[in-house]
Amino acid sequence: MTTVAAPAAFDLTLSEEQQLAQKTAREWARDRVLPIAGEIDEKGAVPRELVREMAELGFMGIDIPERWGGAGLDMVAYMLVMEEINRACASTGVILGSHVSLATAPLLRYGTDEQKERFLAPLARGEKLGCFALSEPASGSDAAAMRTSARRDGDGWILNGTKNFITNGAFADLTVVFAQTDPQARHRGIVTFVVEKGTPGFTVGKLEKKLGIRGSDTAQLHFADVRVPDADRLGEVGEGFKVALSTLDGGRAGIAAQAVGIARACLEDSLAYAQEREAFGQKIAEFQAIQWKLADMATETDAARLLTWRAAALKDRGQPFTAEAAMAKLFASDVAMRAARECVQIFGGYGYLRDFPAERHYRDAKITEIYEGTSEIMLHVIAEDMLEDQG
Ligand code: CAA
Repeated sequence: MTTVAAPAAFDLTLSEEQQLAQKTAREWARDRVLPIAGEIDEKGAVPRELVREMAELGFMGIDIPERWGGAGLDMVAYMLVMEEINRACASTGVILGSHVSLATAPLLRYGTDEQKERFLAPLARGEKLGCFALSEPASGSDAAAMRTSARRDGDGWILNGTKNFITNGAFADLTVVFAQTDPQARHRGIVTFVVEKGTPGFTVGKLEKKLGIRGSDTAQLHFADVRVPDADRLGEVGEGFKVALSTLDGGRAGIAAQAVGIARACLEDSLAYAQEREAFGQKIAEFQAIQWKLADMATETDAARLLTWRAAALKDRGQPFTAEAAMAKLFASDVAMRAARECVQIFGGYGYLRDFPAERHYRDAKITEIYEGTSEIMLHVIAEDMLEDQG
């Protein structure tokens, strides 16, 4: 762990494959996503075409081995792609992030070969879309308090309950869902299943209306006597909480990369505007007040990026990275919020208008402090890790 001790040295050189993934994502996001990012937000939907193109580019299974239909790259490459796509559009970014971090990752780690063939490969090839159903109307941060129940029934299980705030929930073909087998056992009673769209009793409920990331869907999912074969159970009974939290470690690094992308969008848009806009007879970029804002944004964005890369590199090396992912998310989401605030400020009155991207960044940035673990939960995770190290 690196929270107290000095961190190990890191080689930050990107491999040729990682650079190629970054370049491909940068060009695609610039040409195909950025021009319609405002429209995606306004209409409240990402064109399915963009999701199909992400599949063609190999992004939907970027860090999944080729054997299971993926691109065979790593977590660092995934972070690079996430930053580029989120720089253009955070709605498109979260669709990719939820699919990769939260649906494909647990299948790779906990699935049997048969489950990988059946569920992971079509997800990694981008033929199917995935989602992750953990939160419930009455349990978010306290994930172990879930009420969705799993009752054994012959060679299968019966699921009942409601899941909340599920990114990709309305369109996903596969849901990685968590349920409780024994409420007294709290986190030790939780079990994970893969439930396919169209399974009787499994329905999509309310679609949420949101402040930001409006192009991605956030749905309620209902399970009413849903029968799931035991063959679709992921991991052991009682292991579900571990499946959820270890998956969220990767997801938090992904959200950190999203926040870096949003912060970079704020910086780049501010930089361009400050060199165009004139006040008091000069470009506003010539005022030190603006220069210092830009310098702070650049420094903080880079620091957030480095924390994100470190968390990803640790994962790629097979080392623990729970606290590092939490640090990256905590810091990067805060940086994105500050950058968005300054971006609106630099744009002045225009920053408050829908015609300019600043207000979209401002609305999109906020969720990075909340989903896949709030900033308060990140602080808790980091503190627990530090205290364990000391204990
Ligand atoms: N990986 C694997 N196992 C872990 C773990 C990790 N990162 N962290 C903890 N565990 C294990 C512990 O080892 C422990 O296991 P044992 O009992 O076998 O020793 C067990 O989990 C319980 O640990 P805690 O006592 O620390 O658990 P807790 O109940 O106090 O909760 C928590 C810990 C950090 C608060 C956790 O509940 C948490 O992270 N909550 C936030 C949930 C969250 O992020 N929700 C977002 C949902 S996804 C989303 O946003 C929707 C979307 O679609 C984007």
